[in-house]
Amino acid sequence: MANKVAIIGAMEEEVEALYQNLLNINEHETNLPDLPVFTGILSEKEVIIARCGIGKVNAALATQYIINTFNPDFIINTGVAGGVSPKVRIADFVVGQSSLQHDFDARYFGYPMGTIPRLKTSVFLADSRMVELCIQAAGDELGQKRVHRGLIVSGDQFVASTEQKKSILEFFPDTMCVEMEGAAIAQVAHLNQIPHIIIRAISDQADNSAPKDFNQYLLEIIPELNRVIQRLLNLI
Ligand code: ADE
Repeated sequence: MANKVAIIGAMEEEVEALYQNLLNINEHETNLPDLPVFTGILSEKEVIIARCGIGKVNAALATQYIINTFNPDFIINTGVAGGVSPKVRIADFVVGQSSLQHDFDARYFGYPMGTIPRLKTSVFLADSRMVELCIQAAGDELGQKRVHRGLIVSGDQFVASTEQKKSILEFFPDTMCVEMEGAAIAQVAHLNQIPHIIIRAISDQADNSAPKDFNQYLLEIIPELNRVIQRLLNLI
């Protein structure tokens, strides 16, 4: 039973509609520039919503700040992603069962790609109960055919070529989608022993048309993403 839920998205577009639905909305003053944080009630749950900015460092910083300041019971990372698995199409949804940093490269020291040296794990597992509830919430909203579960990979790169996508699949054949924050949020949540989940709507297929598709589909799919999150909050 989660009483206090933190929702983190990278871009304004990914979180602004959630702010608009907040009851008792309050803008929290952060001591960090460029980290807007709002608190309030959404689907009868106490929530903290943050726009962390793009990339793993911004995501990690925001997550630790939110944990230190609000001590949430649960963290949700929301946003869009590029589809990597051929099963995943634009406007489908992926619920992450696990995540890793696909661009972490210490291979010269014998570590497999994606492994963070000297850390117990480099693959961060989402909360399994929340994964099931999120699959249910997304399935109820969109129909099960558009909902996938599996590995989400994150890196500080917008993946926009068939070669880049192929290389991710060679290193991590189970990848469902790629984005730029999820595994960093998951790592910080894990190190703080706070359960998390990543839910992503597919804006593009991480191929040569990705920049164009991203711009075209971003605003189209976010309303559905927000409805799925509100359904999830109703279930937890
Ligand atoms: N977010 C949405 N699409 C993406 C892509 N192709 N690469 C990285 N992050 C993304």
